[in-house]
Amino acid sequence: MSIDKIVSLCKRRGFIFQSSDIYGGFRAVYDYGPLGIALKNNISQLWWKSMTQLHENIVGLDSAILMDPKIWEASGHVGAFNDPLVDCKQCKARYRADELGDIENEKISWNEIQCPKCGTKGSLTEPRQFNLMFKTYVGAVEEDSSATFLRPETAQGIYVNYLLVQNAMRLKLPFGIAQIGKAFRNEIVARNFIFRTREFEQMEMQYFVKPGQDDETLGNWKKERMTFYAQLGINKDKLRFKEHGPGELAHYAKEAWDIEYDFSFGWSEIEGIHNRTDFDLKRHQEFSGKKMEYFETETNERFLPYIIETSAGLNRMLLAVLNDAYWEDEENKRVVMRLDPKIAPVMAVVCPLVKKDGLPEIGRKIMEILKPEFKVIYDQQGSIGKRYYRQDEAGTPFGITVDHQSKDDQSVTLRHRDTQQQDRIAIDQLVDAIKNKLENYS
Ligand code: GAP
Repeated sequence: MSIDKIVSLCKRRGFIFQSSDIYGGFRAVYDYGPLGIALKNNISQLWWKSMTQLHENIVGLDSAILMDPKIWEASGHVGAFNDPLVDCKQCKARYRADELGDIENEKISWNEIQCPKCGTKGSLTEPRQFNLMFKTYVGAVEEDSSATFLRPETAQGIYVNYLLVQNAMRLKLPFGIAQIGKAFRNEIVARNFIFRTREFEQMEMQYFVKPGQDDETLGNWKKERMTFYAQLGINKDKLRFKEHGPGELAHYAKEAWDIEYDFSFGWSEIEGIHNRTDFDLKRHQEFSGKKMEYFETETNERFLPYIIETSAGLNRMLLAVLNDAYWEDEENKRVVMRLDPKIAPVMAVVCPLVKKDGLPEIGRKIMEILKPEFKVIYDQQGSIGKRYYRQDEAGTPFGITVDHQSKDDQSVTLRHRDTQQQDRIAIDQLVDAIKNKLENYS
């Protein structure tokens, strides 16, 4: 299955649109339509709950996107957050050098390689380092002293606030701080739809531990993060861990693992789990001149905690969910998004069979009953079959049809998206019936 099928469904059904569509599209930036934002919110709420509600020692934070530029010097992003960039002098195509060859392990003669786009040999430049941060200016004057960067990761906002949070919440090690927010990277090559974009959202949790407890903690978080994906309904056979080799480790990491998903374009990272040691806190202590040490009352010791980070891309997680849910039902000639009802943008569609005979009134009454419990929509346009197929593509788990029998016995049919099976249910039993199906979905 090609990614194009998902791209086209996302546009057709209102999940995701290319940014600035009427101007021809702004590359590598996307807007989330009504169904996309609902799905994204449902996923991020599950993550937020899994972190800040199910762990008593993890608290939330929402730090600003714009920060003191010294933070990005301290974090190493000014100096080291680079990708190697190669240009074709002939056709002006641009590549990340590591896409064209194994630059970590081999000496590559760039003038002997053919440009993949125009086929010219000897037209590629030697790689040059390209910093991925977006620079911007704060205040009215565009001068270097007013320059800062849009954050390329949310993590630094947590590190620079960690003692304020710890004091305010009277936290003791080990504890975590979780944050969901936008991050920006001026990616050289952006492709595969929302997989690699210039503006995206991260869901990061930084777990502060006593040095020496870091290795075991990383192992525990690896296990816990993998089980999270089962809640999203993702097939576990399509998930795996991949460890970063010595040449692949980020400048801050002692050990790092990716959780990868088997996308239609190949196995690719959706989340990173990193042992960042005390690298970041040490650097902020050095650059700010402020002590970043934690005081352990039990031992009267002061030290810099180690940090285990779980860093997930919300957009990539959403793409994995879409990829996993996409199903072409050949037998019934329909496309179904088999989204887990827990995260489906719409729980049910209410459809009066015809627009007369009092059926719309019953449909409206059912809407009022269901609305406080679930996101439901009302649809009386077109044939019942077309209405259902539209909702199958949108991933709506249930269809409720009001027919002439409903007038006599106050019952409706409840249709199941995946099997198309229909049950006759009393209207006053609908909420319980849906809740029951929701809990027992597999
Ligand atoms: N704080 C650590 C950090 O940012 P990372 O591996 O660079 O680590 C973490 O990024 C996650 O952020 C990735 O696993 C991915 O899901 C997401 N991510 C990174 N760059 C992205 C991009 N250009 N577009 C979409 N998601 C991205």
